[in-house]
Amino acid sequence: MSGTTDSPRDLKAGGRLSGRVTVPGDKSISHRALLFGAIAEGTTTIEGLLPAEDPISTAACLRAMGAEISPIESGAVIQVKGVGLDGLEEPSEVLDCGNSGTTMRLMLGLLAGREGRHFVLSGDASLRRRPMQRVGQPLALMGAEVRGRDGGNYAPLAVQGRKLHGAVVGTPVASAQVKSALLLAALTASGPSTVIEPAHSRDHSERMLRAFGADLEVGGEMGRHISVRPGATLTGQHVVVPGDISSAAFWLVAGALIPGAEITIENVGLNPTRTGVLDILEQMEARIEVLNQRDVAGEPVGDLRVHHGPLKAFQFGEEIMPRLVDEVPILAVAACFCDGISRISGASELRVKETDRLAVMARQLKAMGASIEEQPDGLIIHGGQSLRGAALDSETDHRVAMSLAVAAMLADGDSTLERSDAAAVSYPTFWSDLERLRC
Ligand code: S3P
Repeated sequence: MSGTTDSPRDLKAGGRLSGRVTVPGDKSISHRALLFGAIAEGTTTIEGLLPAEDPISTAACLRAMGAEISPIESGAVIQVKGVGLDGLEEPSEVLDCGNSGTTMRLMLGLLAGREGRHFVLSGDASLRRRPMQRVGQPLALMGAEVRGRDGGNYAPLAVQGRKLHGAVVGTPVASAQVKSALLLAALTASGPSTVIEPAHSRDHSERMLRAFGADLEVGGEMGRHISVRPGATLTGQHVVVPGDISSAAFWLVAGALIPGAEITIENVGLNPTRTGVLDILEQMEARIEVLNQRDVAGEPVGDLRVHHGPLKAFQFGEEIMPRLVDEVPILAVAACFCDGISRISGASELRVKETDRLAVMARQLKAMGASIEEQPDGLIIHGGQSLRGAALDSETDHRVAMSLAVAAMLADGDSTLERSDAAAVSYPTFWSDLERLRC
């Protein structure tokens, strides 16, 4: 697990942030580029892949099954030599998904239909506590056999590859990980499948699978029915990964909150299924401009400029959750400094992320003196009171670590942060970017 051995990091209060920053590649798109490249014919080249622990876990699993992937290093164009739709070999070792839920869940869908082959998947202590039946159950409707602890819900998981049949399958939650697992399984099923999700989750898989040549149609109300006809050959592509809006969110909130701040974040993915955080910042009347909007390799991209200014309290619920699910921790920090009471509801999914993010954010921000009420599905946060420096802990969660870094800058008095290395799961250069932007 990341962030378990480092000594506490000193977080100085005060200071201003200004300048330009390019956040690392989008984590969701990076996983998908590696996975789809591995089962395509020919070579896939990936520009801007996130060189962080989570995609490195995905690459390691794929290599263990015969895909050739060049070393994942910052700034490198990654090459993936695909093995074709049915070419993945049975690995001799357990597939280690590290801290990455996306790796484990997408692998389940990818591997369930590999007839006659056996796979075992595991991960770190956090991942072994995360629910996997949300993937195993709908996959079983296509004939998959996935076993695990506690009735199949927890890793280590064993997948006995079977010939899957096509099916019409509903996902039990609006989760792009579950949806993507089912789409991957559908690629090699014996007949067509339709995946129906209860709300529209991020659609990077649909966009990229189509670009690779999959026979995939999106329909239904708000594009929630995705139909796949199996058999189409996937062909290696050139993928350009935009910056991750979930990483940009830390700078957006920091720039809006810190007196005198002005930050430009370049080359950020602006896929509408991911931009809920911008809608909430608009509700808060944050001063954010979207510049230089363009389309890059099938994904909308732009630069974001943020200036400090007064912020209003906000409210949001279930409807917007899939579009900002990873940004709730940093929005909880923002709420502490807004005028008035902010309310976050419909967020029970946060309890099954890398940590229980509602409990962890409430606990850590309370240690700084914040006034937060934890609800079963959200948080009520009383803004406008100052926070004090404290001994903080990421509790091994990357997004908690980075959210607390922003809170600590705004506190009265310095803080320390245990397990700050957790940030490397999705943003390995976070701490150096913070130092560079600080003035
Ligand atoms: C992801 C989907 C989201 C998100 C996670 C990445 C993906 O999870 O929280 O960080 O790449 O599909 P859910 O789909 O489970 O909500």
